[in-house]
Amino acid sequence: MAISHLIPTYKRQPIAFERGEGAWLFDSDGNRYLDALSGIAVNTLGHAHPALVEAIADQAKRLLHTSNLYEIDVQTRLADRLCDISGMDAVFFGNSGSEANEAAIKLARLHGHNRGIDTPVVVVMEGSFHGRTLAALAATGNASAQKGFEPMPEGFLRVPYGDFDAIAELTDDNIAAVLVEPIQGEGGVRVPPADFLAGVRKLCDERDWLMMVDEVQTGVGRSGHWFAHQAAGIKPDVMGLAKGLGGGVPIGAALVAGKATPLFGPGSHGSTFGGNPLACRAALAVLETIEADGLLAHVQAMGDSIRSQIEARVDGLDHVKDIRGAGLMIGIELAEPCAHLVDAAREQGILLNVTAGNVIRLLPPLIIGPAEVERLVDGVCYLIESVAAPTTNSTGSNKAS
Ligand SMILES: Cc1ncc(COP(=O)(O)O)c(C=O)c1O
Repeated sequence: MAISHLIPTYKRQPIAFERGEGAWLFDSDGNRYLDALSGIAVNTLGHAHPALVEAIADQAKRLLHTSNLYEIDVQTRLADRLCDISGMDAVFFGNSGSEANEAAIKLARLHGHNRGIDTPVVVVMEGSFHGRTLAALAATGNASAQKGFEPMPEGFLRVPYGDFDAIAELTDDNIAAVLVEPIQGEGGVRVPPADFLAGVRKLCDERDWLMMVDEVQTGVGRSGHWFAHQAAGIKPDVMGLAKGLGGGVPIGAALVAGKATPLFGPGSHGSTFGGNPLACRAALAVLETIEADGLLAHVQAMGDSIRSQIEARVDGLDHVKDIRGAGLMIGIELAEPCAHLVDAAREQGILLNVTAGNVIRLLPPLIIGPAEVERLVDGVCYLIESVAAPTTNSTGSNKAS
């Protein structure tokens, strides 16, 4: 497949899809693939979900875009709904996860300046991923993603992920906020200790720091809760969303609560496309469908089923180090690098991803059903038992028998 005029920022797999239906994608030869990646946690409702298709088509017929210079009814309704399910106070809409985090970082700086800090600092985590725009990249804990783009914007202080004491021991008077993923996605589906988020919340209150959660990957039902931090019984001051919110239509959001709410005012931030009628209508349809179809409970059930079945099947295999995650965000850590499993999986009709070098990452759509779960578990266990087994030394070309 010639891709002569695309800047090769992505190392693409040699396949293109023509259409999708539910949890399945179809290539031009009619081969079908079980989508256990969802466009990297985007296709919340799977592919071609009737409610989303109808909402987008109907909105496209009426109005695609006006401007944030005018009232946008569907944007207001989406903000109301997001605040209902999160307990947050207000929403700024952008178009991506990076933009959601840029907004969060700007809010942290405003909060710092309000406290009389000239050079506010945001505490960020090792292994984090917050996006590719410059400030989001500076917040990201991945040196290879930053390489070549120096100088990085200043104002970040990095600590090990999940290490409450490392944050509590910080003495820098310039700290204005903590930015944290409730579960690290790109960093390897890493789940922090059970009391970590609640501890950070308490510390932020004590020290007048904003607690900012990046729910770009974990949010909108993926963890089996609307938002993953809700499992810890806390409410952040700032929350970033994107990916799954529009079910495939680009939209991002920064939600604020409490002392973060009055920070942005007229002229302090903006986005031409942010919160346009099409994107907001799609996001409303996603939220309505998650609620109407009871998908949060479904995600918990399907996620538990996938994890427990894989655990039982791979029990005793030394090269499986850990199986972890929440809801339909599942990581299987192997002892060795296993990027070759992506090709091997695709060859047996499953689309998945490997992150952090040695973690098989499963992010199926929230609508995945029990029969598809069986197929996914069989496929993943085959990969673990055969293709990734230490003695196999596979190139990834094996086929399931
Ligand atoms: C937790 C998290 N934050 C931010 C981003 C960046 O989002 P986007 O690619 O939409 O800018 C990602 C993307 O993977 C992410 O996983």
